[in-house]
Amino acid sequence: MTVAPHQACLLYFADEEAPALRLAQAAGMTAQAVERHRFPDGELKLRLPVNAAGRLPRRVVLLRSLHQPNEKLVELLLAARTARSLGAQQLTLVAPYLAYMRQDIAFHPGEAVSQQVVGGFLAGLFDAVITVDPHLHRINRLEQAITVPQAVVLSGAEPLADLIADRRPNALLVGPDGESAQWIAQAAARHGFDHAVCTKVRHGDRHVAIELPSLNAQGRAVVLLDDMASTGRTLALAARLLLQAGAASVDVAVTHALFAGDALQVLHEAGVGEVWSTDCIPHPSNAVAMAGPLATALQSVLRT
Ligand code: R5P
Repeated sequence: MTVAPHQACLLYFADEEAPALRLAQAAGMTAQAVERHRFPDGELKLRLPVNAAGRLPRRVVLLRSLHQPNEKLVELLLAARTARSLGAQQLTLVAPYLAYMRQDIAFHPGEAVSQQVVGGFLAGLFDAVITVDPHLHRINRLEQAITVPQAVVLSGAEPLADLIADRRPNALLVGPDGESAQWIAQAAARHGFDHAVCTKVRHGDRHVAIELPSLNAQGRAVVLLDDMASTGRTLALAARLLLQAGAASVDVAVTHALFAGDALQVLHEAGVGEVWSTDCIPHPSNAVAMAGPLATALQSVLRT
């Protein structure tokens, strides 16, 4: 059962029109753009697409993938508070990539625990959040970070595993660090891949140390699988070590293609062949579409 179009609408910003239209089509919803104006001083003005009576439907969904998140958080604040004042009673955020989830403790005195701060901010705006592979390390469930009635987590690991099974049928799947074990386990269970997980110690933004697990990489087509690549240093070092250990090839599959700065170049210089990602963050490496699973989750939230 789908929700009638007059009862729900999907709002999006112009830079995410393509994924918004894919999601709206998969969910059988109407998608409408939020108008965004930047004043000369940098402040933002938003205008929401109201009906002739100046109102929004009862159920409003906002699509905003939170890569490059800082300004988008202000957009969410303005859009969500305005939507409530215009009649929205159930507000859902679809954020295929959820930012600020990695800083989950204060590593040094005085540090902001961004996961809690941003999670609390989003919980104050939305009734439901749908996301893909949020980086949950020291907590297990998204609702521990964002205390909303419905916090829905999807994973890119299985669709990426399907792609890997097609492109590298006998792949040796390797996770670059302990956190990746969850995605490696899901992907390996789906296709019976041989698999292993490295250990990593982070020394800085672009400096990590990695130790390979005991595995025989000799002559194998290795695929490194992780939730995200940011600077690419984690995957690049893992790739170098695997090639030194005799791997025939190393390709990379990630849910979130952040690829900051020279990340892709660093990966290729390390010997990485193909790079595949889901379309949670628009990027030339996108090879797996998430609109279908996102739409299914959205329809289920909208039915409540
Ligand atoms: C952290 O554990 C994540 O899963 C990634 O491994 C990490 O964010 C990758 O960062 P970078 O690409 O900057 O090494």
